[in-house]
Amino acid sequence: MPTIKIKTAEEIELMRASCRLAALTLKMIEPHIQPGVSTQQLNDLCHEFLVNNNARPSPLNYRGFPKSICTSINQQVCHGIPGPRTLRDGDIINIDVTAHLNGFHGDTNKSFHVGTPIPKAVRLVQVAKKCLDAGIRVIRPKGHFGDIGAAIEVLALKNQCSVVREYCGHGIGREFHEEPAVLHYITDKNGRKLPPGAEFKPGMIFTVEPMVNLGGAEIRVLPDRWTVVTKDHSLSAQFEHTILVTETGYEVLTDLDGEYAEGNLAVLA
Ligand code: MF3
Ligand code: CO
Ligand code: CO
Repeated sequence: MPTIKIKTAEEIELMRASCRLAALTLKMIEPHIQPGVSTQQLNDLCHEFLVNNNARPSPLNYRGFPKSICTSINQQVCHGIPGPRTLRDGDIINIDVTAHLNGFHGDTNKSFHVGTPIPKAVRLVQVAKKCLDAGIRVIRPKGHFGDIGAAIEVLALKNQCSVVREYCGHGIGREFHEEPAVLHYITDKNGRKLPPGAEFKPGMIFTVEPMVNLGGAEIRVLPDRWTVVTKDHSLSAQFEHTILVTETGYEVLTDLDGEYAEGNLAVLA
């Protein structure tokens, strides 16, 4: 049985701050996502922003990762390394920001279109966002972690897309990656198998971050040992939020705009 930490009220307050800063970083970077900009420039802007806000970028030197954010373009699934590659009209790019502030990590990512979007990329990005939302909506006390993957994969398959299996959401807090692994696919015919016996309980904090492909689910890792790409070179998109289980449902800690407010009745009351 994985030991999933229950955060205290004080820890939750600190998580709110880390998550808010990660989300603000994504908002800051969005207008810079333009043709001709290099992923290194995006990295440097995010790095500066985090440091100026008393935080550190969690990815930098994490298990040897060399940069401050992940930038994953087109057929890249996740963990792309920023560098000289410049953005081109019609690209899609996922930016994954994790902020380490006052001892706690907040983790969020989003896929963006560069310049004029191409129709099949528009469809994929919409499906990936809907998959994240479907996974979030099942979160409530006594629900089960397996409900997340079931909701996500059913929706992806309905839209002729596939879900990557090798990379998962994760508990998060004082550590970047805590237990449990949050699977984004169906784990048994009821979607209620993994992690064994785990129910959502108020005070749990974890990410949901499905990677959705236009083609097959299979991936491989490039020789740089980080960049994950689709085996069939199909486009891949991802969205990620960090979520707190509340007494009544969930609170999306990386939601700046109140988009998910209905999931937390306490916030609405
Ligand atoms: N932020 C990624 C996640 O969502 C992890 C990136 S690990 C890194 O879990 F080393 F590549 F940065
Ligand atoms: Co994450
Ligand atoms: Co992330």
